[in-house]
Amino acid sequence: MWKGLIQEYKEFLPVNDNTPLLTLHEGNTPLIHLDTLSKELGIDLHVKYEGLNPTGSFKDRGMVMAVAKAIEEGSKCVICASTGNTSAAAAAYAARAGIQSLVVIPKGKVAAGKLAQAYMYGAKIIEIDGNFDEALQAVRDISETTDVALVNSVNPYRLEGQKTAAFEICDQLGQAPDVLAIPVGNAGNISAYWKGFKEYNQKKGTALPKMFGFEAEGAAAIVQGAPIAHPETVATAIRIGNPASWHLAEAARDESNGKIAAVTDEEILNAYRLIASKEGVFAEPGSAASVAGVIQSVANGSIPKGSKVVAILTGNGLKDPDTAVSASTVDMVSLPNDESKIREYIEGVL
Ligand code: F0G
Repeated sequence: MWKGLIQEYKEFLPVNDNTPLLTLHEGNTPLIHLDTLSKELGIDLHVKYEGLNPTGSFKDRGMVMAVAKAIEEGSKCVICASTGNTSAAAAAYAARAGIQSLVVIPKGKVAAGKLAQAYMYGAKIIEIDGNFDEALQAVRDISETTDVALVNSVNPYRLEGQKTAAFEICDQLGQAPDVLAIPVGNAGNISAYWKGFKEYNQKKGTALPKMFGFEAEGAAAIVQGAPIAHPETVATAIRIGNPASWHLAEAARDESNGKIAAVTDEEILNAYRLIASKEGVFAEPGSAASVAGVIQSVANGSIPKGSKVVAILTGNGLKDPDTAVSASTVDMVSLPNDESKIREYIEGVL
């Protein structure tokens, strides 16, 4: 049985005899080959479906480590700022460990499923009339003078946990892909993957991918080379204007000979619909930025035909039902409760 990240990867993680073996059996997510899109693009494209983690996003990998280390260090409460997924994961692992979580979120900009999770896992939820960057600044300051453990990705244990996804990809493919495509928000995850690929390569000779990060165009601070005061995108998960791991992300890009580019909301929504309707894989809009970036990069030649590419689908599509319903082109028909009318409609469709 899969025992979760701390036990499965302890030789690669900062764990010792005092680290609790906290787990919700996170990790070990599937790598799914996208048959239709691979054929259409002329590449070999897989997605790492991180939406199948216990709270529905990759954040569980980092959070299990961050909360375990917080407990090891005697904390009774964890705090984070979040666009939604970090807060869901923090609340879940805090609940699992029997400690309190506090989450600070941008009012009106957190998808419904993520908010539902924070409620159910028992977080204290604080919404502010501000964006993620402002919420993060506040919790960073507060955690310095208050007895709470900060579990945003500026906590180095978060990146330690998240790097394990790179290990899994190397094991699933036999080696690293040519290109790793990943959404970029606060820029922690791209940094964690790059660390993971480097460590695994050193131990197991699994080679290194080029790191291709994709920001949403309205929140593309790294691409533009300056923070964005009022970031906007339909992909609320990555609606971030001043990424905390900015320099680590640039290092991942430069050391791997990769790139960080922007994708428009239209490209994101196209990819979002495409992977669900043509491949049966439902990921949230922020996740679809990776596949949108792959499509863009094949079109502009920065991913050559024949490349082996892995795109990270960071969060489950069920997280954000409202965007799904509004972005879908499907029309629901309303019929009377009358079998002959239903039959008539179905025969019309056939
Ligand atoms: N994809 C999803 C679904 C996310 O929730 C996030 C970040 C990212 C991608 C970007 O990852 O920040 O490491 O570059 N969500 C954070 C949160 C900010 O609060 O849940 P990153």
